[in-house]
Amino acid sequence: MCEDTSVGGHVFINYRGEDSESYAALLYVELCRRFGSELVFLDSESIPAGSDFVEELLSRVRHARVLLAVIGPRWLTVASAEGTPRILDPADWTRRELAEALAAGVKVIPVLTDGTDIPTGPELPSDIVALCRCQYRRLRRRDASVDLGRLGDELAAADPELAAAAARRVLTHAPAVMPSVPAGGSGDPAATYMSHHEPKGGGYSGRAVRGWHRYASVSHEVLFGVEQIIGRLRAGLRSTSGGWILCVRGAGGVGKTALAYEVARVAEQEGAFDRVLWTTVKGEASLLGIGEMSQPTWGDTVAGLADQLEVPLSASRTLWDRELGDAIRRQDAGTRFLTVVDNLESSGTATSIVDRLVELGFVRPHKLLLTSRWVVPDRWNLVKEQLVRGLAPKDAIALARHEGASDEQLSAAPDSAFSPIVRITEGNPYLIKLIVRRYLSSGLPLERVVQDLIAAAGHLGSQKDSLAHGARDYLFDGSLKELDRRAGSKAAHMLMAAFCVKRRGEEVDYGELKDISGLADAAFDDVLRCGCELELIQASNLNQRYSIHSLLYEFTVGPMEWLP
Ligand SMILES: Nc1ncnc2c1ncn2[C@@H]1O[C@H](COP(=O)(O)OP(=O)(O)OP(=O)(O)O)[C@@H](O)[C@H]1O
Ligand SMILES: [Mg+2]
Repeated sequence: MCEDTSVGGHVFINYRGEDSESYAALLYVELCRRFGSELVFLDSESIPAGSDFVEELLSRVRHARVLLAVIGPRWLTVASAEGTPRILDPADWTRRELAEALAAGVKVIPVLTDGTDIPTGPELPSDIVALCRCQYRRLRRRDASVDLGRLGDELAAADPELAAAAARRVLTHAPAVMPSVPAGGSGDPAATYMSHHEPKGGGYSGRAVRGWHRYASVSHEVLFGVEQIIGRLRAGLRSTSGGWILCVRGAGGVGKTALAYEVARVAEQEGAFDRVLWTTVKGEASLLGIGEMSQPTWGDTVAGLADQLEVPLSASRTLWDRELGDAIRRQDAGTRFLTVVDNLESSGTATSIVDRLVELGFVRPHKLLLTSRWVVPDRWNLVKEQLVRGLAPKDAIALARHEGASDEQLSAAPDSAFSPIVRITEGNPYLIKLIVRRYLSSGLPLERVVQDLIAAAGHLGSQKDSLAHGARDYLFDGSLKELDRRAGSKAAHMLMAAFCVKRRGEEVDYGELKDISGLADAAFDDVLRCGCELELIQASNLNQRYSIHSLLYEFTVGPMEWLP
C-alpha cells in the first residue's frame, strides 16, 4: 500500500459493504495477486492509522488510474435507519467516491455482480449519473475465476504500468476462486465459502481487518469439502431451542479454526446473530508444560471480548468479570451474540473457560462455538459436538491442486499422482498444504518428495500416534531447514525462538517480534519474508501482526535442541 497520498496509479475498488463486500474482497485478492497490493486500494481499511480519513480517501480516488464500482442487487436500495436509500444521501461514501472519480476524469468501470443490471439514469443522483453510461463488466459467482481473469487482462492491456507490474510479479498464488454452491445452497454469496478476511500474495500482504475478524487468525482463501459440515453447524446455530454450545472437535490442523471462522462469518451474514465475538485461548508456553488456564489467559479473553463489545474495563482486573457480565445482561431482549472460543487446549481449560462464560451470560439466548482437539465435558448439559475428520480423497486432491496451481505440471497431473499425499496426510489439510509447499520449494520430483516423506513418516510414526503425526514433524523439519538455507540459520533460529517465548496461538506485532528476535532491521525483514513465503509464518492486519500455526509452535518448542 502506498503511504504517500500523492502517489497514484492504482486501481481503486468502490463498493457498498452491505451489498457486495464478498465480491469487493474477491476482486481485491485477485488484483493484489496480479498487480501487487501497492497498486490496489480497497476503501478506508487500507488507510494508514492516524491519517486524515476524508482527505486520504478522496485523494486516493482522484489519483486512481481506474475505479472499479462493484454493484450488486442491493446497491441502490440499501437504506439508512430512517428508510432513505443511502445512494440519495450526498454524504454516502460509495456515492462520494464515485462523484469524485467522475469529476476528476478517472476511468470508472462498473462491475456488476451476478444478474444485477446497470442502474439507469433516473435511478442515479445527478453527480454520478454518468455512471450509467460507463462500460461495465460482469462478475458472476459461478464463473468468478473466468471473469476475474478477463477483467485483470483488460486492465493490464489498457495500462502499460499495470501490465509492467503484472510482469514483474512472481505469481506464487492461485487466483482467488469461489467454490461451487453447496447442494441446496441459496445462490447468495453468503452461502459460499470463499474467505475474504485477508488477501495473500507472496505471503507478505494483507489488509487491516475489523471487529471480531481481528481476533481470528486464519489463512485460507477457499475451503474444500466442508459444505456438509458447515451445513450441519449452520443448522445447529440457527436453532433457537437448543445447541447453545456447539463444539467442533478434531485433530490438530484438520481445519477446526477455519471452519469456525466460516461458520461464524456466514451466520453473521445470514443475520442469525446480531454480533459475533471471537476469542483465541492462548496456551501457556509449552516449555513450562501445558497446564490449566491461568489468570492472565482469562484476563486476555475478557479484555478481548470487552474490546469487541466496546465495554470499557476499569483499572482493577478483579472488576472485569462483573463489568463484562453486566454489559451482556444490559443487551436488549432479542439480541443474540455468537461467541467463538477457539483453541481450547485441554478438557480442564475448556471446563474452566466455558464455566465462566456461562456464568457471565454468554449462553441462552446467546451461543458459544468452541474448537478443541479434545472432548469438552458437558457439565452444563448444553454441548453438541461436531467431529471433524480429514478431507475425503477428492477434496484432498482438489486442495493439493489449488495449493500447487502456480506449477503447471502439478496442476495437470492425474489424480493418481496425488494418492500418496492423500494417504500419508490422512486428508489433513494442513499437512497437504505443507507437502505441496515442500514440493514447490524443493524443486524435487513429487514422487521423490512423497517417497522421502513416507520413509521418514513411517519411521517417526512408529514412535508417535499416527503416520500423519510423523509426516508433520518431517515436513516442519524440512521447511525449517529451508528457512535456514534461505535466510541463514542464525536468523532463522532467532526468529522462530521469538515466537516460542510467546504463548501458543498468540499473534505478535512486527516491532515486538523484531525486538524479541534481536535481529537487525534488514536481516529481520529478510527472514520474516522467507518464513511467510514458506508458509511457516502467517501475516495479518496489514502485515503488522504475525503468528505461527499451533502445530508448528508445538514442534519448535518441543525439541529444545532446535533452539539456539
Ligand atoms: N477444508 C479445507 N480446505 C482447505 N484448506 C483448509 C481446510 N481446512 C483447513 N484448511 C487449512 O489448513 C490449515 C489448518 O487449519 P486450521 O488451523 O483451521 O486447523 P485446526 O484444526 O484449527 O488446527 P489446531 O488444532 O492446531 O488449532 C490452515 O492453513 C487452513 O487454512
Ligand atoms: Mg485451530
